[in-house]
Amino acid sequence: MPRVTFAAALGLLGLVALFVAVQGFVWHSMSRGVLGLVGSSEAQGRLAGSALSNGYIFGHMVFGGVVTMLAVVQSAGFVRRRWPIVHRLSGRVLALSALMTGLGGLGYILLRGTIGGPIMNVGFGLYGILMILCAIQTPRYAMAGDYARHRRWGLRLILVALGSWIYRVHYGLWYGATCGIAPELCGVGASADFSGPFDIIQMFAFYLPYLLLLEWILRRHMNRQVM
Ligand code: HEM
Repeated sequence: MPRVTFAAALGLLGLVALFVAVQGFVWHSMSRGVLGLVGSSEAQGRLAGSALSNGYIFGHMVFGGVVTMLAVVQSAGFVRRRWPIVHRLSGRVLALSALMTGLGGLGYILLRGTIGGPIMNVGFGLYGILMILCAIQTPRYAMAGDYARHRRWGLRLILVALGSWIYRVHYGLWYGATCGIAPELCGVGASADFSGPFDIIQMFAFYLPYLLLLEWILRRHMNRQVM
């Protein structure tokens, strides 16, 4: 009994830490998005384009901020158990925002392409498609009453939703580690035009390995239930 309480406290602590950790990025994404939408040239920077492409890219930042924050809320099991209405409401907002984020990101890629060129277009494009797929499948199975599938798609959605933040965390860790080792190694493999080997790996590494790991865990879990 005390072990369960300790594990629950640890889980809660982890969630609170994650919630606090994403706030800086959520604020950056939403404020840049809103300022970009109202036409601030400083916020738009090199992403500035036509009204349509601005709508896509800066709109996706606003919705993306909501997605990042609500992914943490939805991963809290105690919220779902104690306040199911909060889980349902926040889940709906998360799914809708994820749909809008994915569509906005994809729309921008189709119109303008990314700074990193074709490989980044594919990496980010696939990311957008997966986000849209998860945003559709998660509520779909909840509405159908298939809660086992709903849970699996929900977990995928949470991972994908945190992907954009994880992308920045990977860069932060890389710069922290390489700059810490030696000044001449600082940021090795990463470049301003995103053409370095580290950049190219990152075009997929912020979501794909995590999703594959999740699939492996889910499959193991399902096999154990069958046996
Ligand atoms: C949680 C979801 C997401 C958030 C919070 C987010 C946030 C951001 C932010 C803030 C930027 C501007 C760069 C910066 O200021 O750091 C950005 C750029 C971008 N995002 Fe997202 N994003 C998300 C999901 C997506 C998805 C799903 C796609 C793809 C469909 C996407 C595609 C892009 C593209 C293409 C750029 C511009 C890349 C370039 O510099 O050329 N994002 N995103």
